[in-house]
Amino acid sequence: MHHFSYQNGELCAEDVPVAEIAAQVGTPFYLYSAATLRRHFAAFDGAFAGQPHLTCFAVKSCSNLAILNLFAKMGGGADIVSGGELFRALKAGVPPQRIVYSGVGKTEEEMRFALESGILLFNVESEQELEKLRDAARALGKTAPVSLRVNPDVDPKTHAYISTGLAKNKFGIPIERAEAVYLAARDMDEIEIRGVSCHIGSQLTDVSPFVESLGKLKALIGRLRAQGIGISHLDLGGGLGIRYNQEEPPPPAAYAEAVLAEMAGLECTLILEPGRVIVGNAAILVTKVLFAKEGPVKKFLVVDAGMNDLARPSLYGAFHAVLPVRQHPETMKADVVGPICETGDFLARDQEVPAARPGELLAVMSAGAYGFSMSSNYNSRPRVAEVLVRGGGHRLIRARETFDDLIRGEAIPDNF
Ligand SMILES: Cc1ncc(COP(=O)(O)O)c(C=O)c1O
Repeated sequence: MHHFSYQNGELCAEDVPVAEIAAQVGTPFYLYSAATLRRHFAAFDGAFAGQPHLTCFAVKSCSNLAILNLFAKMGGGADIVSGGELFRALKAGVPPQRIVYSGVGKTEEEMRFALESGILLFNVESEQELEKLRDAARALGKTAPVSLRVNPDVDPKTHAYISTGLAKNKFGIPIERAEAVYLAARDMDEIEIRGVSCHIGSQLTDVSPFVESLGKLKALIGRLRAQGIGISHLDLGGGLGIRYNQEEPPPPAAYAEAVLAEMAGLECTLILEPGRVIVGNAAILVTKVLFAKEGPVKKFLVVDAGMNDLARPSLYGAFHAVLPVRQHPETMKADVVGPICETGDFLARDQEVPAARPGELLAVMSAGAYGFSMSSNYNSRPRVAEVLVRGGGHRLIRARETFDDLIRGEAIPDNF
């Protein structure tokens, strides 16, 4: 459930007409609904109410400070994958004791930053990383709290690019190797083993892969405990899907019910790393039609947002519904394409879209997750503005970049 709806033929975000905001900030821009963000966070987090748990929002899915701050105020933590995300999470007011750090390629500097910040857990993804982390902790005179990220070799049945828990993927330590690595970690003075973690993929529309991997982790925890290795935290990662088109993902309550049933009696604090399910349907990308073009075999709406602003359609062939900002009686089958010099630059392909004319505004729906956070300056396009609506008001939460922003840090060397 989201809070974007038509009122008197005008698309509104909560109580604010989208066109009104567009007139103030220009296009394109991302528009988030605070009520939707809060509702989704509360629905997800509340589904685990009976279980000691921590909901660590996946910063990569949407990393604006205002949004991270909103979840932090609701008791949320953060799942980070880089030093930059740690910096953001701390700036947004996420307490370090609620931050978990995943990722296959943590650098020494990033490890030091996280150790000095006092984060809750490093999700360690290889033996080499474990050794590097031990050395970094030793140099600082600190102890590193660790979960090993295990790769359970479970098929999440999602897009190949966002499957992460298969044996052929780069993520985690193969589950058959995990016990040996835990035993090695136990002998490292600077490593404090706290947990087991996994993350098998994104946009899952079925709970069974979660339950299957949880079953494997449960068995591993049993074996570790039998050897005297205490495990107090179990991190199940993120991955719950949303409806972009016709998908029917389980609601958070059904997901929680299945997870809690499988981990009954395990006595662990559960960590969850949801991203998409919380922010995906909480934002739209608003764009203006520049030209309506009729090719010999296809119709195109050329809009002012491109693949650099929203990469998902180009990257994954992902579907996003495209709706008119002013309700439109006619639709047509067309591609919605951006101004970028790539044939892969499309926001919708062979899709039923409004039969819009130049100057009209369109809303690309479900753009909150991996939308702005994946955007780039490709074709030297300034990154777009981000706006947050709350009830009848709105605030700019990221200013549109300027041309000067594009060249910040660049230099033409003298006599070189
Ligand atoms: C380690 C980790 N945790 C959590 C997430 C969030 O996934 P989602 O947005 O599907 O919930 C990701 C996404 O790729 C991830 O890599």
